[in-house]
Amino acid sequence: MKKETLLSYARAARLKAYAPYSKFLVGAALLTDENFVITGSNTENASYGMTVCAERIAIFTAIHAGWRNFMSLAVVTDSSPPSSPCGACRQVIWELCGNIEVVMGNLAGEMVTTSSLEMLPKPFGAADWQGNPVTGEMLQAEDIWRLPVTSNPLGYVLNDYPAPQQIPENYKELLSKIVIDPEFEDGLYRLDEEEKIIVISYLHQAKGYTLKDKRSGRGNEVYGVFACRAPLRPNALAQSVVELVDIKKNILTVKGLDLINGTPVLDLKTDYR
Ligand code: THU
Repeated sequence: MKKETLLSYARAARLKAYAPYSKFLVGAALLTDENFVITGSNTENASYGMTVCAERIAIFTAIHAGWRNFMSLAVVTDSSPPSSPCGACRQVIWELCGNIEVVMGNLAGEMVTTSSLEMLPKPFGAADWQGNPVTGEMLQAEDIWRLPVTSNPLGYVLNDYPAPQQIPENYKELLSKIVIDPEFEDGLYRLDEEEKIIVISYLHQAKGYTLKDKRSGRGNEVYGVFACRAPLRPNALAQSVVELVDIKKNILTVKGLDLINGTPVLDLKTDYR
């Protein structure tokens, strides 16, 4: 993954910061050895010392999700030159990520690249207790399926519908675009051979659900949520079958998409077996 791309994840993560005291927003993005990205943002507390930096939120989140091997960490702030991880984070980065690339950026597009060891020479760390058992057995636990799954969206929907209520009745006749991150563009190879494609997306504005309720899309009769297409569902995932009109580089034009502007697209696939 390009450094600029990892920085753009960190830039987006920065907007999730909870920093009412310092008003200094920080975003971090950690790249795994499987090209997956986990993000974090700084989270402050009225008891100031309880604050946790963006870097540690990203790293701890990744560790909890089961990731162990990391390639690069990007950090974005709004200062120039881009600010560096604090000492406490350097210690944590060293222990949990080893000697990885660290890319610091800011909103003006400046970028500085270093590494964990360059930031923390002669580190104290894991070598002192190597040989202790790793808790790998955790990953075989019977209840593992209950843990939340995360995904990195491929791109987003671009159209004129700002909210679900504004999706026109005749959406089946209307065009939308799907913008795919250029990093994934090669995955679109030969998709243009298809007339219809399946779009899997995350309904980012859908909040809450009922398991059994009257369904407007089903003549107001009572149906279970899994027996209808209601957007308010436990995982807010949507599957739309649309006509593929055209693909130009990383931008698809499709007909009949019932999703609002900005909806994250998680996957594209065909029905070919
Ligand atoms: N902060 C980070 O998130 N990362 C760093 O490496 C340095 C500091 C945050 C913590 C606090 O919310 C704010 O920046 C000011 O210190």
